[in-house]
Amino acid sequence: MQSLLAVALGLSFIACTSINSGRYENELGKQTYQTYCMACHGVDGKLKLNGAPDLTFSKMTLEEKIENVTIGGSMMPAFAEVISEEEIKAVAVYLNELKPSE
Ligand code: HEC
Repeated sequence: MQSLLAVALGLSFIACTSINSGRYENELGKQTYQTYCMACHGVDGKLKLNGAPDLTFSKMTLEEKIENVTIGGSMMPAFAEVISEEEIKAVAVYLNELKPSE
């Protein structure tokens, strides 16, 4: 029983370290998204609260997303005064990484 526990702990340690070893690089974009965008757009961009579009189907280019986040929309707040330019870029890149569900 004790050795089983040790194996389980060992496996979860390996899982954690492999996630941390650079497999996911846009941590800033993810953090920014989860802090400022998730409330309306949901974990995966599909929540569509307050008339928000499904972000995984957005046809906007990276530049258009950066501009959209900077100046906001009719229902979406502008983030120019809220987060840094670097965070806006990172979060726009993160949006491009959101994948439509199968
Ligand atoms: C208060 C709710 C709310 C928050 C918070 C919010 N959004 Fe939005 N977002 C919307 C709504 C509503 C729209 C639809 C356009 C509009 O404003 O009329 C939208 C549209 C968008 C679009 C355009 C998609 C398209 O193809 O038309 C992008 C990109 C986007 N949001 C990204 C973000 C990002 C990134 C954040 C966080 C920095 C964020 N949003 C935070 C509500 C929100």
